Amino acid sequence: MFENLKKLEQEIEEKLSGIKDSISLSSLKIEIFGKKGSITNHLKSISSLPKDQRKQTGQAINDLKNKINTIIEKKFNDLNKDEIENKLLNESVDSTLSSRPDEEGKINPITQTIAEVTKIFQKMGFKIALGPDIEDDYHNFTALNIPPEHPARQLHDTFYLKKNKNGQKNLLRTHTSPVQIRTLENTKPPLKIIAPGRAYRADSDITHTPMFHQIEGLCIDKDVNMSHLKGCILDFCHEYFDIEDLPVRFRPSFFPFTEPSAEVDIGCYKNKKEIKIGTGGDWLEIMGCGMVNLNVLKNCKVDTKKFQGFAFGMGVERMAMLKYGISDLRSFFESDLKWLKNFGFSVFDNIEKV
Ligand code: DAH
Repeated sequence: MFENLKKLEQEIEEKLSGIKDSISLSSLKIEIFGKKGSITNHLKSISSLPKDQRKQTGQAINDLKNKINTIIEKKFNDLNKDEIENKLLNESVDSTLSSRPDEEGKINPITQTIAEVTKIFQKMGFKIALGPDIEDDYHNFTALNIPPEHPARQLHDTFYLKKNKNGQKNLLRTHTSPVQIRTLENTKPPLKIIAPGRAYRADSDITHTPMFHQIEGLCIDKDVNMSHLKGCILDFCHEYFDIEDLPVRFRPSFFPFTEPSAEVDIGCYKNKKEIKIGTGGDWLEIMGCGMVNLNVLKNCKVDTKKFQGFAFGMGVERMAMLKYGISDLRSFFESDLKWLKNFGFSVFDNIEKV
């Protein structure tokens, strides 16, 4: 056995001395220490030796293993050094070569629109508020004055989730209005919040996607009235669409969570089949709004003798389509890079010029 080991050691040393590069050294290492390697085989054979020889033989194989390992490691180091030095000597950087084309990533118009809209309201003193996409029935409906069996529930094609431990079915919020409730539950008025986020409805056709974005606004204070709501929305429309004399009108409407309620339309006209925003004969609806229904305030334990307020909600995709001339709603979600290159925004578009 010991003779065999001596022979093996000589063989390995011979092979090692002939090695000139790290790749061949790696192969040799496997030949020696791999699953079927020469030293591995010797180690495996220990168990078949008579008991009294095992300890000594094992020791000898381990000594050889350590010795060879040390030699190999040293050789690796030396070869690596040589290889790096050779590379440095023989290869050089051609600094006259032109750089690789740099594809700039683009910001989706939805993200851009959320940034633009929230920024305008932030300048008016609204603070950003966020709420969960998975809501409970109470925050999405009941607290917003939409009790069970209310017909408005049928208008929201709700995605319900499986019953939870308490036997209640959670849901994907059908609008961002529940953020109003969550804020009123946690913050003492006066308050002004702007809440962007995703909303979900089981609806899919040319003008609907099952997931879409909304921005919700809420202002609660002591003397807030309908004219504050009008002023706020008028200022917003003029700044967002960047048209100073843009016609804006408030049309009476109904929402369970506001009373009175209105829908906001902006002026538009047709230009060769294309809809343009500005003074013209036509109107386009852009958001819902109203004075917060007293039932909503009471549900959130707001003292209605002291406080009242207004709320509004708009669809982000619609705001983006109108401002940036995007005609197909579905294109927002198709991840088509050509489309994004055309309609997307550069990071630098959002840096304010002084
Ligand atoms: N939640 C409404 C919807 O999804 C939009 C809305 C209308 C929000 C009027 C409001 C509001 O806060 O006052 O259609």
